[in-house]
Amino acid sequence: MGPNFISLTDPRLIKTIYSTRGNYAKSDFYSVNDVLQDGHIIQNVFSTRSNAFHAKYMRPIQKLYSMSGILSLEPLADTTISIFCRRLEELFVDRPNTCDIGDWLLYYAWDVVGEVTFSQPIGFLEEGTDINDMLVTAEKALDYFAVITQMPKLDHLLDKNPLYRLGPPSFGAAAGYCAQRMMERIQHADTHNHSQPDFLDHFLEMKKTYPDVVDNKQVIGYLLINILAGADTTAITLRAIIYYLLKNPSAMAKLYAELDAANLPLPASYDSVRNLPYLSAVLREAMRMHPAVGMIMERIVPSGGLALPDGRFVAPGTIVGMNPWVVHRNQEIFGADADRFNPDRWLKGEDEDEETYRERLKRMKDADLTFGAGNRVCLGQNLALMECNKVVATLFSRYNFGLEDPKREWNIQNSWFVRQTDIRIRITRHNKATA
Ligand code: HEM
Repeated sequence: MGPNFISLTDPRLIKTIYSTRGNYAKSDFYSVNDVLQDGHIIQNVFSTRSNAFHAKYMRPIQKLYSMSGILSLEPLADTTISIFCRRLEELFVDRPNTCDIGDWLLYYAWDVVGEVTFSQPIGFLEEGTDINDMLVTAEKALDYFAVITQMPKLDHLLDKNPLYRLGPPSFGAAAGYCAQRMMERIQHADTHNHSQPDFLDHFLEMKKTYPDVVDNKQVIGYLLINILAGADTTAITLRAIIYYLLKNPSAMAKLYAELDAANLPLPASYDSVRNLPYLSAVLREAMRMHPAVGMIMERIVPSGGLALPDGRFVAPGTIVGMNPWVVHRNQEIFGADADRFNPDRWLKGEDEDEETYRERLKRMKDADLTFGAGNRVCLGQNLALMECNKVVATLFSRYNFGLEDPKREWNIQNSWFVRQTDIRIRITRHNKATA
């Protein structure tokens, strides 16, 4: 790809490069995500290249992101899903108005992360637009990240310049928002509903459990990670699910059939949807076709080097990595139709015996890089899966969706996250009789 930099595609190498031991460290690509504060470079759990730093700051929060930790936040997610449905109904459902669902899924994703983090939505769904330029700033920061990570040294001139900071737009507004919520919680702890703890409650609790690791600054750091890593990625995944369903009416019909038969409570509980086979297949397939991360996740070959399956040898110190978009289109793993959206590939074929299916499924799961892999796998995947499963099941139980112009394609732009725009749809009520 460039000097000392190799793009790998063989899925057999995933477990080596993205190992759970963390012996392939992240490259300087990730340093662009550090921040310069009072003359010091501050790393975070995503950007750090050090296993020791990573372990130290992950330890206090890891269990909060386990599935049982995430499920304790489900009532907060329900609140946002109800607001989302109400806003769609006020503005679009059974009305002649076209909905740019890409924008509204972004508002939902930011608000649901706000709700589980602070017990209050940021307010995008109510406003129906950007607030304090938070969304546009996040986009510009990603545009910067995608370009400058290719030559991280430039970052020392632009973002980390000790004399004069030239850019990109900083996360000042988002960090200020997090700091404000934290101070309010500390000062008005008595007015907060402690029977339903949120992430902020848990992070503040960690100050007591890990006083030498977690202080107020670190709490803000954890809060920011939730907002910045968790919102855009979830919105991108939801857009992919809805777009591919709209472009593939037979898949959409199968999903409606499954959801209608399930007769779900609304908002759908995670428990009632987690084992719906077709819904799970749709989610997996949309994430395979359109993983949120669209660049190489760079790692450094450790001492000892890397022997490739074809016998070639990669020297220690070389930067290697894989791009989920490339691996997910591997025809040997996903079949000759790997470029097509086909949720059925995740289900057992009619003529397929159980053992063949299990092996095929395992090969596909092992090659799934949607959430990365190894010791630096996505911290928030359980949260993202809960949010996506619940909202997709709820939306497709309540509404019919149709593209305004079925021939038109969406626009996509790869800025590390591969974001989509221009998904214009019409919405009507599904199963009117039961509405
Ligand atoms: C569908 C939604 C999401 C997708 C597709 C996604 C994808 C990813 C990927 C591919 C990585 C690995 C990046 C790399 O190795 O370079 C990652 C890491 C990470 N993600 Fe996510 N993510 C999602 C949602 C979330 C959420 C909701 C949160 C937080 C609440 C989150 C927090 C993180 C963090 C902290 C890391 C860094 C982990 C580490 O380096 O140890 N993500 N994510």
